Amino acid sequence: MDGNGRWAAQRSLPRTSGHRAAETAVIDVIEAARAAGIGWLSLYAFSTENWRRPSAEVDFLMQLVRRVVRKHAPLLHARGIRCRFLGVTDPRVPAALARDFADLTTLTGDNRGMTLTVAFDHGGRRDIVEAARSLIRSGVTADAVTEESFAAHLPFPDTPDVDLVIRTSGEQRISNFMLWQVAYAEWVFPPVLWPDFRAPHFLECLRTFQQRDRRFGGVLPHQNGEHRP
Ligand code: IPE
Ligand code: MG
Repeated sequence: MDGNGRWAAQRSLPRTSGHRAAETAVIDVIEAARAAGIGWLSLYAFSTENWRRPSAEVDFLMQLVRRVVRKHAPLLHARGIRCRFLGVTDPRVPAALARDFADLTTLTGDNRGMTLTVAFDHGGRRDIVEAARSLIRSGVTADAVTEESFAAHLPFPDTPDVDLVIRTSGEQRISNFMLWQVAYAEWVFPPVLWPDFRAPHFLECLRTFQQRDRRFGGVLPHQNGEHRP
């Protein structure tokens, strides 16, 4: 969800105004994804690298996310959405926020609608290193390590591989997002800044995705025409 700062700068507002304006986009996209029958939606809210931002901005984000989570918890639950948080290991995450995350996870844990994963204090490389540590601790021999057994040590191993990554604001980078899970993801880079992103933009991304040929390194049957008469 990129472009909050630029959205604010375009309006001669402080960066924090852009973050505040992002709330509407977040709720709109969650609703649109659920209505479209998407089973798994992940939102990259805060990266392990975002701690490098000025502390006033970091503090603002922590308070904002806390307010948004508390405010929308009843709606998320009513919609049958299962919520969980990927990351949240840094002691700098305020205890009250971590508690709200845990409360929402518990509240919605039995829901069977869409799974909403909020990546917060997330880093793809850190997840891979943690998985390696966990694997070694389990005492497995080197030769027994497979892609499947490795992936089982990642956080939320039930998460399917990512099909589509949408990065708003026109930036074209991975920025350490779910590195393992995006191996065969399709990517779209809409130019819209995140605070302006709404359901129609999201649905447009889904249409783009539907038009992609996903070959996973192979060939599609109709392209394998060598032996056609
Ligand atoms: C994304 O918007 C929000 C977070 C990373 C929390 P940015 O804050 O990165 O906005 P730009 O990139 O400065 O426009
Ligand atoms: Mg940015």
